[in-house]
Amino acid sequence: MDIYKEVKRRRTFAIISHPDAGKTTLTEKILLFAGAIQIAGSVKSRKASKYASSDWMEIEKQRGISVASSVMQIEYNDCIINLLDTPGHQDFSEDTYRVLTAVDAALMVIDAANGIEAQTIKLLEVCRARKTPIITFINKLDREVREPLDLLHEVEKHLEIDVIPFTWPIGMGKSFQGVFDLGTNKILSFKSGEDRYNIPRVLSGNTSDYSNKKTFEKLFKIIEQDITLIKEAIPNFNKESFLLGEQTPVFFGSAINNFGVQEILDALTNYFPPPSPTKTIQRQILPNETKFTGLVFKIQANMDPAHRDRIAFIRIHSGHFKRGMKLKISRTQKEIKTNNVVSFLSQKRDLVDEAFAGDIIGIPNHGVLQIGDVLTEGEYLEFTGLPCFAPEIFKSIEAKDPLKNKQLNTGLKQLSEEGAIQVFQLYKSNNLILGAVGQLQFEVVAHRLQYEYNADVNILPTNYITARWISSNNERTLNKFINSNNTNIAYDTIGNITFLAKSNAQLKISQELNPDISFHMIREHNEKISGTNHSK
Ligand code: G4P
Repeated sequence: MDIYKEVKRRRTFAIISHPDAGKTTLTEKILLFAGAIQIAGSVKSRKASKYASSDWMEIEKQRGISVASSVMQIEYNDCIINLLDTPGHQDFSEDTYRVLTAVDAALMVIDAANGIEAQTIKLLEVCRARKTPIITFINKLDREVREPLDLLHEVEKHLEIDVIPFTWPIGMGKSFQGVFDLGTNKILSFKSGEDRYNIPRVLSGNTSDYSNKKTFEKLFKIIEQDITLIKEAIPNFNKESFLLGEQTPVFFGSAINNFGVQEILDALTNYFPPPSPTKTIQRQILPNETKFTGLVFKIQANMDPAHRDRIAFIRIHSGHFKRGMKLKISRTQKEIKTNNVVSFLSQKRDLVDEAFAGDIIGIPNHGVLQIGDVLTEGEYLEFTGLPCFAPEIFKSIEAKDPLKNKQLNTGLKQLSEEGAIQVFQLYKSNNLILGAVGQLQFEVVAHRLQYEYNADVNILPTNYITARWISSNNERTLNKFINSNNTNIAYDTIGNITFLAKSNAQLKISQELNPDISFHMIREHNEKISGTNHSK
C-alpha cells in the first residue's frame, strides 16, 4: 500500500445546482457511465424542492431514503471518485455549506433554460471563498433553451468566474444535434431517442470517411461563427487559474439523454485535483502523512429507518484509515473504536476496511461526535473553515406537557449537535429560542422531537429577527452591554453570548454605540467566541 499513490487517485467533489437543474439525473448518469450501477432509476430523487412546506414529512421520508446516496464512492479510470450530494432545498443550505468544506472541487449543473438561479449564486460564493475548482455542466440542451453565448455571459457576470467552453452545442431543442469538442475539433453527434451511452458517434472534418466528413461540415457550418468568436474572445484554459477557482471549463449536454456525461466524467477525473494540504490552527496537514486526521462535517440521523442511528460523516485529511484502529477526538480527548465504520460504496453502506485522504467514512455513534470534531491518532488539532452562520429566522419552543421538558432538552441538544437547528437560551428567562435559515427546519425539528424524543411541542413566534455572537476584549464593557440589553441576550449551546435583535435598526444602533464590542455573523463550529461564565 502506497499512501502517496492512493491519495493521488482520489477525486472528492460535490454536485451543486439550483433545484430541478438536473443534479439527480446527472449523478445517476455519472454512476451509470462509471459502471457503478447497471440501470437508470436507481438513485432516488430527493425532489425536496417540489414539495410545499406542508409536505415536509414527505421530505424527511425522502431524505431518509436518499441520504444513503448523499455520499457515493465509485472507481473509474483508476480514480476513486467520492461524490457528495448537497440538499436540494434551500432551507437546508447550512448542510450544503458544510458539505462544500469537505470537498476538493465542485461540479455545477445549470439548467440551460433558466440560466443562473439564486441558489447557485449563493453556493458559488462559498466555493469562491474557498477557491474551489469548478466544472460547469449546462444541461437540457434537448429543450428550447437560452442562447449559449448569453448563458456564458450570465455565468461570467453573476458568478464572477471566467468561463472556458470545452464543448459547444449545435442547435437546441428539436434541432439539437450534438456538440463540437473545442479540444479535439470533433463533433459528438446527437440524435433524439438515440442512446449515446451505447453508440458514440464522433464526426471529424479530417477523415477519409466521406459521409462522416460531409456530416461534420454540415453541422460545423451551424456553429462556425460562434466558434470563431469563442476562439478570438475567450482565453485559453489555464489549469492553475482553474485550480484557484478563477476559470471554469464548461460542457453542454443533456443528462437525461446521456449526452455530455462521458465528457464530464473524463473531465472530472482529468482536471479535478487530488486532496491537497489542509490548514489547522496548529500546523499544516499533508494528505499523504502516515498518521490519520479526519474532520466531522455532517451528522445524519435516521439514515436507516430500521435503526435509529446517527452517523458522523468524516472527511479524511491525512493518513491511512484501518478498520478497528483507535482514534482520539481532539475536543473531548475521548478515544473511539472504529469497528463499525462504514463507507458509501455505490450507495450501499459497507463496512470499510481501509480509506485514505479524500475519502468519506461514516461512524455510527450516539452523540459522542459533533460537527467540527477532529479525529486523530492522538495529536491535538483544531480545524478552521467549518462555518456556522447566524440564523435568520427565530421561533420559541415549549413542550406541550411540562413533564416532557427533559425529553425536549435532550432532543434539542442532539438536534443542534447535528446542525439541524440552532438553540439559544435566553439570559433573562429560561425560555428557549430556535434559530434557523429556512422555515422547513422548524417543521422537521418539531416532527423529530415528537417521533424520536417523545416530546410534543409548540413552536411559537418571537420578535427576534436577527442574531450576532458578541465578544470584547474589555470584560467590563461586555458585562455592561449584557446588563443593559438583557432581554436581547441569549447563550448558544456551547455558551457563546448572543445578541438577538428585534429589528435591523436595533442591531445597527447597538453596533454603533458599542465600538468595543464585536458582533459576529459567522463563527467556527465549536468555536468559543466569548466567555461562558457571565453570571445573571
Ligand atoms: P435536481 O436533482 O437538480 O432537482 O433535478 P432532477 O435531476 O430531479 O431533474 C429535474 C427534472 O429535469 C426532471 O424532470 C428530470 O427528468 C429533468 N431533466 C434532467 N435532465 C434533463 C435533460 O437533459 N433534458 C430534459 N428535457 N429534462 C431533464 P421531472 O419531470 O421533474 O421528473 P421525472 O418525472 O422526469 O423524474
